[in-house]
Amino acid sequence: MCGIFAYNGKNNTVPFLIEWLRNLEYRGYDSAGLFSINNSWEFVVEKAVGKVSNLATQVEKNIDKNISYSNGIAHTRWATHGKVTQENTHPHYSQSERFFVVHNWIIENYMTLKSELEEKYNFYSQTDTEVIAKLFEELFDGNIISTLEKVTEKLVWAYALAVIDKQNPQTLVGAKLWSPMIVWIGQEWVFLSSDINAVSHVATQFTTLEDRETVVIKNGKYEVFSLGNKVEKDFEEVDDRFQAADKWLFETFTEKEIHEIPTVLRNSLKWRINFETKSIQNETLNELNEMDFDRIEIIASGSSYFAWVVWASWFKELADIQTEVRISSEFLYEKFIPNKKTLYIVISQSGETADVRECVKMIQQKDCNTFWIVNVVWSTIARMCDMGLYTHSGIEVWVASTKNVIGQLAVLLTMWISLGLDRNLQMKDAKSLIEKLWELPAQLETQLAESQKYTDLAEKYKKYNNFFYLWRNILQGTAAECSLKLKELTYLHAEAYSTWELKHGPLALIHEDFPVVAINPMWSLREKSISNIKEIWARNGTVLWVISKNDSYREIYNDIIEIPETHELLTPFLPLIPLWLFSVEMAKKLWKDVDKPQNLAKSVTVE
Ligand code: AGP
Repeated sequence: MCGIFAYNGKNNTVPFLIEWLRNLEYRGYDSAGLFSINNSWEFVVEKAVGKVSNLATQVEKNIDKNISYSNGIAHTRWATHGKVTQENTHPHYSQSERFFVVHNWIIENYMTLKSELEEKYNFYSQTDTEVIAKLFEELFDGNIISTLEKVTEKLVWAYALAVIDKQNPQTLVGAKLWSPMIVWIGQEWVFLSSDINAVSHVATQFTTLEDRETVVIKNGKYEVFSLGNKVEKDFEEVDDRFQAADKWLFETFTEKEIHEIPTVLRNSLKWRINFETKSIQNETLNELNEMDFDRIEIIASGSSYFAWVVWASWFKELADIQTEVRISSEFLYEKFIPNKKTLYIVISQSGETADVRECVKMIQQKDCNTFWIVNVVWSTIARMCDMGLYTHSGIEVWVASTKNVIGQLAVLLTMWISLGLDRNLQMKDAKSLIEKLWELPAQLETQLAESQKYTDLAEKYKKYNNFFYLWRNILQGTAAECSLKLKELTYLHAEAYSTWELKHGPLALIHEDFPVVAINPMWSLREKSISNIKEIWARNGTVLWVISKNDSYREIYNDIIEIPETHELLTPFLPLIPLWLFSVEMAKKLWKDVDKPQNLAKSVTVE
């Protein structure tokens, strides 16, 4: 996704802009650019297709290092309108090259505006953002703040934008509608960013702009306006929730985040479970139990959706509430029949996924109850819904969501135990589950210690192009999530399928060059799954078998991944780390960029 960034203050702007564009890289992009100016009207404009490092090289070559700049805007572009070219790279500028603009999101009426402006101005790009720059020229009334209001009134749908007027070099203005914009303040400088992770460890305080608010920054001081009226904003302290992401000793950030999982799990549980008394302790969950609902609809996408698929299985196992899991982009465009007795729960790591946000808006327009589970503190979805819980996964920076999936499962499990105890879950059953839950982080740690196994497996399996990930019952979400990881990290094809269902067609695909990853721990359906795998084995299928460590049955497999034995309802946790590491190792052996998979973005902020 596009990322915008802006700086105004006493330091030399350009190095800041480059450094912070790097912090936005994980969002996914394909070009980057910057504009910077000082109070002597000296300015620099640089744009580069490809990585931020290309832009940095270009700046290094072209910039006069004796000049310091004090005001600047920068952008990483994820192509939406127009191809990946230098001309389409932000910042965009007006015909007189007076107004420079960076912009995140989509202006839905840009073609109409462009056709009106083309009578007077020549366009050099295919972007909607250039239209904004031309509008500044067209509507400029001598005051950039009132001009900003006039321009944004003409724009349909969403934007986070930052603008500099070359004639007014001390000033930077920003505005937002729907697309996030955070205002960060430090010692005599102010940042704007479209991402809460971007600046965290240099800023001391931050706030988020609300829709139709504008911010005016001059010489490191700011003012915020709403529809032209000055407003006072509450600022939040930047604390350790925003610790900067770094790689430690790992080859990739993704591996570093996978190795954080035991800590994430402990953090996610400790806020809500008292392991001494084996009881749930959480205000929000107590409030939830007071609410009157007899049905739950869960709305999410990607890995967050698969976490829900797991949870829905748990729910059907132990609570009498009808639960449905819905893909957000589908839920949004089906006929919505609002139900006041339904609790609509949305889950999103970033808290910014566009279709999930639109779902919340649609549900709230019908005055129904919404509950959020997000990871990014103060993200849009967390601020939109009625109530919710953070997953406390820490900053998850890289595209493949791993540690936060575990954080989500932990929150969901706690919610389900709390709701279940309020219905038909017996206290003794809850306590035995909590006991097993307490063992889980240490079990995951032993899995992380065995990571060499997955390197060896990857060496053997990297030659294949297609995989089945087979599941039964409560392992559907796990299989779907792990097949997603293989796809997004290796670009190979992987499909999650019911082991039982194979014989109704897909068994035709079984071949020694089409391996199956069969997830079959020690559980109630183990025997049935063994008979299904036998059918595959009998047809020369290649079987990578995920089984419990103490499972003696070892006849029908080519390779084994052993997982610790645990409470049956906790089995969805245990294949995750091995199969995620398997995908990471496969990607490395196939020379893929594990941290920045092609075509993907961390946060899908456009529908
Ligand atoms: C996960 O590995 C993917 N990168 C992607 O499916 C992600 O889970 C999905 O886009 C949802 O993101 P969210 O949780 O931030 O809403």
